[in-house]
Amino acid sequence: MKITKIAFTACMLALFVMAIFAEDATEEHKNAMKGLQKSVGMVKRGEDVPAAIATIKASAKAIEDFWLKRDNEVTTKSMAAIREGVAAAEKAGTDPAALAAAAGIINGSCRGCHSVHKGENNTIK
Ligand code: HEC
Repeated sequence: MKITKIAFTACMLALFVMAIFAEDATEEHKNAMKGLQKSVGMVKRGEDVPAAIATIKASAKAIEDFWLKRDNEVTTKSMAAIREGVAAAEKAGTDPAALAAAAGIINGSCRGCHSVHKGENNTIK
């Protein structure tokens, strides 16, 4: 009985701590993410690449300021990968293999941050 109570209290405490650290994303953050996802797909398929690149740049800028204050290391790495991928996409012209490779570089930046900061149901952790 006593152990059950202690276990229950421990669970409640853990839930409370998780609730503090998992934060709902703002619409601005979600929209920037959706813009990134859509545009990387466009680069990969060679579809209106200049417009896709413009969206990627704008979305990356929108999330950079927010994230630099929270996790400078992951953000700096992610932004470097996005810039590298954007530069590759700008050079790729209409070459499908080069565009796919550029999209691959950009996707690496997403994984770098998601693996650390994307919580369940698209929360921020
Ligand atoms: C610096 C951190 C970071 C980077 C870089 C990043 N993301 Fe995210 N992303 C998150 C976090 C945190 C969430 C969960 C919160 C949210 O949904 O906004 C998320 C959520 C998402 C979602 C779900 C959005 C929703 O709520 O419907 C998509 C899609 C997404 N990211 C795509 C991408 C793509 C594509 C890239 C790379 C081009 C990328 N993200 C780069 C942190 C990042």
